[in-house]
Amino acid sequence: MSMQVQSLYQKYESYFPVGTCASPRNLEMHRELLITHFNSLTAENHMKFGPIHPEPDAYNFTLADQLVEFAKQHNKRIRGHTLVWHNQNPPWLFIDGDGRPVDRDTLLKRMEEHIHTVVSRYRGSIYCWDVVNEAVADSSPGVLRQRSPWLGIIGPDFIAKAFEFAHAADPEALLFYNDYNAVQPGKRDKIVQLVKGLQDKGIPVHGVGIQGHWNLYWPDAGEIRETIEKYAALGVQVHITELDMSVFAFDDRRTDLTEPTSEMIEKQAERYEQVFALFREYADVITNVTLWGAADDTTWLHNFPVRGRINWPLLFDMNHQPKPALERVLQF
Ligand code: GLA
Repeated sequence: MSMQVQSLYQKYESYFPVGTCASPRNLEMHRELLITHFNSLTAENHMKFGPIHPEPDAYNFTLADQLVEFAKQHNKRIRGHTLVWHNQNPPWLFIDGDGRPVDRDTLLKRMEEHIHTVVSRYRGSIYCWDVVNEAVADSSPGVLRQRSPWLGIIGPDFIAKAFEFAHAADPEALLFYNDYNAVQPGKRDKIVQLVKGLQDKGIPVHGVGIQGHWNLYWPDAGEIRETIEKYAALGVQVHITELDMSVFAFDDRRTDLTEPTSEMIEKQAERYEQVFALFREYADVITNVTLWGAADDTTWLHNFPVRGRINWPLLFDMNHQPKPALERVLQF
């Protein structure tokens, strides 16, 4: 495999770590890319509640341990992802033996036990956690997403509790609130309100994760800049946690493209150049930039939000070769 370009993470060494998500599959398939170009890893799925805690009394740490082992061997840091989310939970979590919803105290105990077990196990190996993922409402009124069993059973303080439990399990870990559409002004202001509310109560929250599932047309750089400033004003760190740059507008239904057009590739290079320039400008608050994948052959965007719509959202192509976007990100 040709690898003429400079190492991405080494180029950014004086700014922030540059990461990618990792799965058992891409630890194999993208091994060289991961080792050469990224110095932070996030488990794509296998630290989520369902995969890591499939039965009330059974954890499955095999894949998470493998990732931690790989990271140690190759000197990569790990972002923990994620402790409390409304998706990818095991079927037993919110119900009792008769299939009825559990009460608040029971769910709080389950949450505490889970967070304690997972966070303590990786204490010293995982330097930060996405403690709560996607709890804020998109466009509906009110700050919190209504359709979450955590909210329904525990109430709004499920978020504060999760942060307290995580802090108790590892007082050194940096604790993040992570969300998508985190630069969209309405939702961004709700996230600010949420984090401020936690801070006012003395809850340990150290950062906001901007997922960064973006595309060629959205969001504009001004919106991103404004958002970074608003989160920075809270006195917390900002991580870009799941960056990818879809070549399609979100609601573009086309599924017939088998290659990206040259316009797409050029526009994508400009977009990546633009957002990385912005990240560098704010390197005092942006302390990690993680892409949601290493190369275009493995991305969730091949099936989201349109099934079978092949996408090319990352910095390396289907054959693991550098794309113009990567060259631009390295040019400064
Ligand atoms: C959200 C989650 C991620 C991942 C993506 C889709 O952004 O935070 O863990 O599931 O959706 O890949």
